[in-house]
This record gives sequence, C-alpha cells and structure tokens, in this order.
Amino acid sequence: MSLRKNIVALRRKKAIVQKGGGDEAIEKQISMGKMTARERILSLLDPDSFHEYDLFVEHEERNFGMDRKALPGDGVITGTGTISGAPVCIYAQDFTVMGGSLGLKHARKITKIMDHALKMKIPCIGINDSGGARIQEGIGALAGYGEIFYRNTLASGVIPQISVILGPCAGGAVYSPALTDFVFVVEGISKMFITGPNVIETVLGEKISQENLGGARVHAEITGNAHFYALSEKECFQQIKELINLIPHNNEQKAVSIAPKRPKSNKKIDNIIPADPRQPYDVRDIIHTLTDDSKFLEVHELWAPNIVIGFGRLDGETVAFVANQPMYLAGVLDCDSSNKAARFIRFCDSFNIPIITLEDMPGYLPGVDQEHAGVIRHGAKVLYAYSEATVPKITVVLRKAYGGGYIAMNSRHLGADFMFAWPDAEIAVMGPEGAANIIFRKEIMEAEDQDAMRQVKVKEYIEKFANPYVAASKGFIDAVIEPTETRELLLHALSVSKNKYDHRPVKKHGIPPF
Ligand code: HXC
Repeated sequence: MSLRKNIVALRRKKAIVQKGGGDEAIEKQISMGKMTARERILSLLDPDSFHEYDLFVEHEERNFGMDRKALPGDGVITGTGTISGAPVCIYAQDFTVMGGSLGLKHARKITKIMDHALKMKIPCIGINDSGGARIQEGIGALAGYGEIFYRNTLASGVIPQISVILGPCAGGAVYSPALTDFVFVVEGISKMFITGPNVIETVLGEKISQENLGGARVHAEITGNAHFYALSEKECFQQIKELINLIPHNNEQKAVSIAPKRPKSNKKIDNIIPADPRQPYDVRDIIHTLTDDSKFLEVHELWAPNIVIGFGRLDGETVAFVANQPMYLAGVLDCDSSNKAARFIRFCDSFNIPIITLEDMPGYLPGVDQEHAGVIRHGAKVLYAYSEATVPKITVVLRKAYGGGYIAMNSRHLGADFMFAWPDAEIAVMGPEGAANIIFRKEIMEAEDQDAMRQVKVKEYIEKFANPYVAASKGFIDAVIEPTETRELLLHALSVSKNKYDHRPVKKHGIPPF
C-alpha cells in the first residue's frame, strides 16, 4: 500500500520537475519558434528510448536570492537513449529554467553524462540553449565550464561529440561546441557569440543584431564554426540521425555497414568534366556517380566551398570524400579550405573511416591576402593531416594536379595507398601557360611573333608534361584508369585495405600547425 502511495508521489514529483520553467516560460519558448528541451530530446531519439538521470539535482547557491529559487533539473536534462538503435548520451539545456544558464550543478550533470559516454564509448550529443554562465553563481559556473571543456578534450578522438545550437550559446559557452566534432545550427534559432550585442555597443559603439553577429548562416557560411545548417529543428534532427548512421560510435569500431546499393545518378561519369580544361563542373556530380544510391552527406556545405567534404557509402561501407571543387576558385586550397579539409581528415583517421580524395586543382591560392592570413601555416595542416592518417587513403586525379596542390592532396609522397589518374589528368609542377613563360622565355622573347611562339611552347609543354604518364612512369601513379572503372577500383582498393596496419613513430603527440 505504501509502495503504491510512494509511486503516485514519485510520478507527481517527476511531473512537476519535468515541466521545467512553467507554463509562461514554455509559452515564450514556443513563441520564439523553439521546441522545449524535452521535446527536442524526444524528437531526436528513437521513440520510447529516452531514460533520464539526475532529474532531482538541485543547485546549492544561496546568494542573490537564489536560496528562494527552485530550478527544475537545474536547467538541463540529461540521459541516454538510442538513434536508429545505436545508444547515445544526450543533454539538452532548458532555456525555460533561468535562461538555461549554467551553474555548477548544471555543469556537473553535463560532465556526468559526458563521463558516462566516454566510459561506455558511445556518442555524446549536447543541445545548447543557454544565456551562458549563471551570473549569480560566479566562479562555480566558470569552474563548470572548465570541467566541460576538459572532458570535451579527453573525449576528442575517442567518441563522436555533437553540438546542437538551438538558442543562445553565449560567452565562454561557445568553446564546448568549438571543441566538439560537429556543430549543427538552425536558421533564426541559433545564436553563438563570445560577446553579445549590448557589450559590443557599449565598448565599441557599434549596433549589431544577434543574427548578424552570430546567427546560423554566419557560422555555416562565414566562420565555419557550424558544420550543418538547417531551416528547422526537425530538419536539423534528421541531419543528426543521418550522421550518426554513417559514423562509428567510437574509435575502436567501424561504422555499421548496410546492404550495398548501386549508384542511381543519371549522369555518366565520363561526361561530367568539360572538354575545355579551363571549364568548371560540380565535383559532387562525380561523387554521386560513385556512392551507393548516389547518396552523399556533405559536411560544411556552405563554408569554403572550394573543397567538398562528406560521407557516403561504397558497397554498404562508410567512406569519406575530400574533393576539390572546380566550381569555386578553381578548387584551390586556401586558408579556410585547408582548415576544413585537415580537420575532417583527422576526424576520419580517428574514427577508422577510409578517405577517398578526388583531385582537380591548380595549387594553393596566391595573393597578399592569403599570405598575410597565414596560408603557409593553414596549408601545412592538410599535409600534416594526410601524412598522419593511417586509415586507407585513395586518390583519384580527375584533371589538374599542380605544384603544392599535387603533393598536398594525398599524394603518394604523403602516404597514399592507391593513386589512380584519369587519362585527362595533368600532373606537373605548374600550369602550362606559366611553365612555358618561364622555361621558354628566351625563345618567346626572341621570336618575331611572340604570341604564336608562346602557343607553340605551351603545346609542347602540355604534350610533354601535362598528362598522367610522366608521374605514372616514375611509379607515383599506380594506374591510369578510365572514369567508368573508378567505382570498381575504389571497391577493390578498399577490400585490399581491410587489414591495413600502418606504423608511426612512438610519441606523446605530434605538434600540428594549429
Ligand atoms: C543568470 C540568466 C542568464 C545568465 C539569462 N538569464 N542569462 N540568468 N545568468 N547568464 C535569465 C534572465 O535573467 C531571465 O530570467 C531568463 O534567463 C530569460 O532570459 P531573457 O533575457 O528574458 O531572455 P531573452 O530576452 O531571450 O535573452 C536571452 C539572452 C539574454 C540573449 C541570452 O538573457 C542575455 O544576454 N543573457 C546574458 C548572456 C551573457 O552575457 N552570458 C555570458 C555570461 S559570462 P527571468 O527570471 O527574468 O525569467 C560567460 C562566461 C563563461 O558565459 C566563461 C567560461 C569560460
């Protein structure tokens, strides 16, 4: 009898706390076009899979009238559940409870679920919707952030960490997402900045909206802080599910494989690259002719579009693509695209995902802006990431592979396991025009018709060097292949690489050009 009574009491107690900040605050949340923290968790996870922990945790702050404030769940919901059957740890900050602000107990709920994720070796997903450090708690809140950042760093490369920005993510709070592997944002809802508009106006006298300062589009397109951009929370959760389905759940596993499917793109792989080598095309059309069901989950779609990165499947197994995009800046490497590619390569290497590089680019972007922005340091990250990676690494030279770009884009010299080139490939130290102008300068200058002579010399250079056969004759290219053979050869190369084991010198850790 008493057990029954206690069960009723428990249910009542739970219902009160699970209401979060109450009707008024929930209405405000909904009026802003946002789901509540609980709705978000339930929408993202498989039905009936969520189990909540630490529901009854309470803050212990006594100053500034906090002793009279009950904060349900201390403003954050934590627990475990599944996505497509795969277990995950999750937390969601509840903005209806004191603006989702982070105090010490709130932080400790988060660090507890992070510790759990690391111990169980399952992904950790954090939904951020918070006014930042709980001002009344002062140092306790700062300590809490520090403890979260420390765990983000320990978990890096061990379990996938996903951050979802579904409201404000202000002040030091931004650094947890920045330390995680994938950041998701939603148009009109995500706001992420170190210093808010009010402070900027006071200090700098500049008026700026939250949207312009750190809205979803800003982070997806300009800063590169966000990897995935969606127009609604529902679309965002769909993207997270797709990602979780494609990646391994920890660094000791491979991604779950599914039934193989043929590509279904209606484009023909040998028709995509234009006959004129100066004409651009969309490299994603080539990726779609290669992947199962022609599916490709692009990462960082809107940022640094001169390189394309993302995941697909070949015969049911997850692979990663890193591809120059001739549609933007001729597919050059610059500061942003180098950062984009290098970080992605390191993620794939940590999580046992083979990397397929599709190369068509004239080299690093020249110019004072790039040099001053640090293209040397940023560009070096690509060399570092490819050289360091021990997962199977396959390169297909589609067209241009010039100069530093040839080396950087997973060349044989950085440890590529397989190097294929299409017959139109141009592999040389620089483009024919530039090369002819330098090495035949004397002949061109002395000619009666300099333009005609330049054309002759450019043609001579193209015939001699702008093809894949010089590189193939030195063994730097393993095979010159027909475009239609590409998928079969990739499948073969991947199956040959299944037991790949690559040694690296023993060290505490390397020092990449951060
Ligand atoms: C305590 C906070 C809070 C905070 C919001 N609230 N942020 N309480 N500490 N950091 C409370 C509000 O007082 C309010 O309480 C409720 O949450 C909802 O907030 P509103 O302001 O009414 O909501 P809205 O108008 O939507 O504005 C949201 C906001 C704004 C833009 C996030 O609240 C804001 O600017 N907050 C402060 C953001 C900030 O500067 N954070 C940085 C803190 S320092 P009531 O009771 O009225 O409902 C920091 C450093 C960490 O984070 C460093 C770690 C390394």
